Amino acid sequence: MRIKRWIATGAVAIATVGALNTLPASAGRPYNPADQSLRNLGLRHDLYIGTAVDMAALNDAADPRYRELVASQFSTVTAENVMKWESLEPTRGTYDWAPADELLAFAQQNNQRVRGHVLVWQNQLPGWLTTGVEDGSISTEQLRDILRNHITTVVKHFKGRIWQWDVVNEAVSDPWDSPSTLHYKGFWAQHLGPDYIADAFRWARAADPKALLFYNDYNIEAFGSGDPADDKTQFVYDMAKNLLAQRVPIDGVGSQGHLGTQYGNYDTLQVAAALKKFAGLGLATAFTEVDVRSQLTEAVRNGDSNEINPRLQASAANYSVLLQACLADRHCLSFTVWGFTDKHSWVPDWFGNEGMANIYDENYQPKRAYHLMKADLIYAGPPYVLPRIAQKPRR
Ligand code: G3I
Repeated sequence: MRIKRWIATGAVAIATVGALNTLPASAGRPYNPADQSLRNLGLRHDLYIGTAVDMAALNDAADPRYRELVASQFSTVTAENVMKWESLEPTRGTYDWAPADELLAFAQQNNQRVRGHVLVWQNQLPGWLTTGVEDGSISTEQLRDILRNHITTVVKHFKGRIWQWDVVNEAVSDPWDSPSTLHYKGFWAQHLGPDYIADAFRWARAADPKALLFYNDYNIEAFGSGDPADDKTQFVYDMAKNLLAQRVPIDGVGSQGHLGTQYGNYDTLQVAAALKKFAGLGLATAFTEVDVRSQLTEAVRNGDSNEINPRLQASAANYSVLLQACLADRHCLSFTVWGFTDKHSWVPDWFGNEGMANIYDENYQPKRAYHLMKADLIYAGPPYVLPRIAQKPRR
């Protein structure tokens, strides 16, 4: 049965464990049937399983479990913060490569691929840049040069060591923004106009011909109305199609996968259909920042299992929806979680009363989401799930 027909009929991607062991494995190192880690189970499908890495946690000698799990469970890593502009170039023209280089050395030691995050984003920009634009000491023309220099310098520095670059991140508004009609948002669109997106991909490609170049965004896990005025996935799809028509070297679309159990979210068929549609443009896909948070009511905080259990289950189900969809589409190259433990998560800091978003709890105990991911990786197999189709960098 072809994948297309499977998606159409709504079957779940499950086959026997025995069938799986016949799959070739080429992702990083050979598949080892005795190793039940996520990274090794991903190898059965050529699928890279990743995590964002918090460098402070990685270097905390008092917390060795964090480092052990990054090394043993994951075959790709993403810098949670240290490759962002404010970290790499805190002072104009002076780069601090040390923390990012340290992560790359760690990845090399552990036979992991690296997702580069992020070249162009409106958040975590250095003060000298935003202030310079605000006070007029940086002109529009200079700003474009600064962006080109930054992309060129950063991509050249890491050349040959980055598998996938998030070249442009979160460039599109959400329906709750103003105006509600979807549009290009943020610092770069405001000051350079939307053409900065095509420029960024071209500059990145010129600096590294081999890295895969991604557009990365949230709330694009599934299609909605199909109207680009209010369907963000459709807006991003149209954008990618237009970039390709202009021969812009975009190789993939990253779907972040920040979900919450209080929302409706999606089912596997909807997500698989979206991945397939992007693949239809000739693009690779990846889940790049998956986490599934929950509201922390007083009862949850007090340990009430009547409130905790449904959250753990709903969170696990959402991880599984995204992972099954990724497994089912052979152009989906990697599945990265945005931190793996509730001990180190952006969620409570950002949302205040939300948490429990990760696959391990604060004491590094694997949660239901971890076990469900593992089951998906173990039981999925041919003919429904076949090895990945590698993406070639577009010229
Ligand atoms: O740099 C300061 C540091 O000097 C200070 O000691 C520390 C004290 O709290 O704060 C540090 O800055 C924080 C930074 O993370 C580094 O830890 C910021 O306050 C904090 O806002 C920042 O949050 C990051 C967030 O992006 C900011 O936009 C999160 O860790 C990071 O997980 C999050 O990641 C983003 C992706 O890049 C893009 N997609 C959405 C995702 C979640 O927001």
